[in-house]
Amino acid sequence: MNLEELQIKIKTIKEQLKNESIVDSELLQTKYLGKKGSFNDLAKAIGQIDPEQKKEAGKLLNELKIHLTETIEKLEKSPKKASFEDLTAPGVKPKVGHMHPVSQAMEEITQIFERIGFSRARYPEVDWDWYVFESLNMPKSHPARDEWETFFVEAPVDPEKGKVVLTTHTSNGQVREMERLKSKPPIRMINIARCYRRQQDATHTQMFHQFEGLVVDTGINIQHLKGTLDYFAEQFYGPGTKSRIRPFHFQFTEPSFEVDFSCHICNGTGKINEEKCKFCKSGWHEVGGAGMVHPNVLKAGGIDPEKYTGFAFGWGVERTYTLKQGLNIDDIRLLYSGDLRFLEQF
Ligand code: PHE
Repeated sequence: MNLEELQIKIKTIKEQLKNESIVDSELLQTKYLGKKGSFNDLAKAIGQIDPEQKKEAGKLLNELKIHLTETIEKLEKSPKKASFEDLTAPGVKPKVGHMHPVSQAMEEITQIFERIGFSRARYPEVDWDWYVFESLNMPKSHPARDEWETFFVEAPVDPEKGKVVLTTHTSNGQVREMERLKSKPPIRMINIARCYRRQQDATHTQMFHQFEGLVVDTGINIQHLKGTLDYFAEQFYGPGTKSRIRPFHFQFTEPSFEVDFSCHICNGTGKINEEKCKFCKSGWHEVGGAGMVHPNVLKAGGIDPEKYTGFAFGWGVERTYTLKQGLNIDDIRLLYSGDLRFLEQF
């Protein structure tokens, strides 16, 4: 054995004592300083050390002995752990978890729409091009498809339904719902699902959630859409919250709109005490898209557009939820970080 090995052994013994689970000092005394204890074992080995290194080795061993003696003595003086269980002591409360904020939001959104006769639907999150794009009035190679940065799945191409993609929006549920109901309105669907897009930054995650409403019946018009949006605004964000629709373009709705909700922090005025509301800056928050179902979409679902009309809307669950909390989460990826310090706040 050389000096270096001796130092390593000393370190190991000290470490072992530090992490000792035995609290009885007599037992420790025997284990470390007794006749057959760790210290004696090491001291015996000193005979093999180089004569020039012996002096130094002796010094090290001495130090170890003092360290062991003092540490064990200290233990003796410190109060010992209770050697019995106090059955009358109050228990330790187990940690109780809660639903993830996004699940909470989905639950609430579902309930709000169920109250006015919508039913929750679930459709595949890996779906054919036909449902995600083509049946929604976006023929192959239509430039509007570029807005959805699509993930394609390496899977056999269906001769009729085309390639397989990760759904870029919940609108794939529209024609699927028409098919499920055998093209027989009335339809009142709320479809909430994961969506995927090739984008990742502070305001986008590659996976997110959307909720999609679809209503098809006789005599459905924009008033019904607007009324539904106002109803949701009040239910989700609180009384007095209003919706606003602005002209926009989607291939699958005509006319199409962007939907805003009035800011519930400044009551849609854009101002708090004469200062600009920091949360919305303008009194409104843009949340998503909506419109009257395009006749070609109804046709794709086997519904006669001369007889029936409908409206649809769709937007992101994460954004809708963080707005409600009055949160300007500067990095939406936090929602999916699994960091309990963040999630426990909700
Ligand atoms: N699917 C659209 C999007 O993801 C939103 C939308 C849904 C627009 C329904 C109109 C009608 O942006």
